[in-house]
Amino acid sequence: MAETPAAPRTDTDLETAEDFLPINGTDYVEFYVGNAKQAAMYYAHLFGFSITAYRGPETGHRESVSYLLEQSNVHFVLTSALGPESEVAEHVHRHGDGVKDIALWVDDAEKSFAETTNRGAEAVREPTVLEDDHGRVVLSSIATFGDTVHTFVDRSDYDGPFLPGFEPWDNAFWTPPDPVGLQYVDHCVGNVHEGEMDTYVQYYADVMGFRNMLSFSDSDISTEYSALMSKVMANGNERIKFPINEPAEGKKKSQIEEYLEFYRGAGVQHIALATDDILSTVRELRRRGVAFLHVPDTYYDRDVLFDRVGEINENVEDLEELGILVDRDPDGYLLQIFTQPVQDRPTVFYEIIQREGARTFGAGNFKALFEAIEREQEKRGNL
Ligand code: FE2
Repeated sequence: MAETPAAPRTDTDLETAEDFLPINGTDYVEFYVGNAKQAAMYYAHLFGFSITAYRGPETGHRESVSYLLEQSNVHFVLTSALGPESEVAEHVHRHGDGVKDIALWVDDAEKSFAETTNRGAEAVREPTVLEDDHGRVVLSSIATFGDTVHTFVDRSDYDGPFLPGFEPWDNAFWTPPDPVGLQYVDHCVGNVHEGEMDTYVQYYADVMGFRNMLSFSDSDISTEYSALMSKVMANGNERIKFPINEPAEGKKKSQIEEYLEFYRGAGVQHIALATDDILSTVRELRRRGVAFLHVPDTYYDRDVLFDRVGEINENVEDLEELGILVDRDPDGYLLQIFTQPVQDRPTVFYEIIQREGARTFGAGNFKALFEAIEREQEKRGNL
């Protein structure tokens, strides 16, 4: 399949000189799920996470239960309700399992809250100090698209297992599976309603000082049936990157519309997790039963592929065997692959990505990828 990479355009209009919101990285991603106890084992056995901390009735927290899962610098929190009146239960009832919080690691959660709310961010949680024997953590939260929030986390005075209230989780009868090489959260993608992409682009620019590092129009990202538009917002050091998608007019229902319908609103579409060795990571994920989107064999037509991406260090045979995609941008190349949704609703999924210099998102793969998603939509009767 001959693909021309969509030319990325950088919009510098929104750049801000002063970084009023320094961010060290993603602190954690919290999911509200129907059954955190079982979901924790899914992430442990399929994706190689260790379950390291727990908060619930046994630790004095009666509103909900949470498990902390860790793999290198990736921290996921899985939270479930203990009763129908909980906001966690309401969230799961409406959205299914999904991302509630993309928490950001900062040095000053009070200042982060003040700077962002002064610029128009919607406040969700005033700066709150949590303390236990291990020290103190300051948390504050602001709203973003849908029911999703960003929590600012200052953990500089804390040396406990996660947050005050969490205790180490252990199960003497369980040997955790080995990690699969996932290193850190590379980017988190949001899906928003038609006409709202620029609203959130402006929101991240205004209230968080993010800049628009890339834009893709519907002519860059379209298939025979459906189209979408996407803009990528990034913080100053580019450790935080939020592509935001909205559906565009197409002949049939786009994957973004399918998401919005099943998630009942805007929310996180996928989380990209970085690895240093995508071949071994994906081989192991496949062995453990992680289901990935199927890429047609024609994608690996050597002439077309090499023409598009040039020299790469990996064997194309390995990429083809594992269904890994390649793309190149001016800074280097990247390897990526996308899972099937990880819950019954066709909503949240994962990307596994290895960057060999490239700073972008695989625009040259968008068409092949979206056609693969459409084949799955078709099977679900949602195209
Ligand atoms: Fe991505």
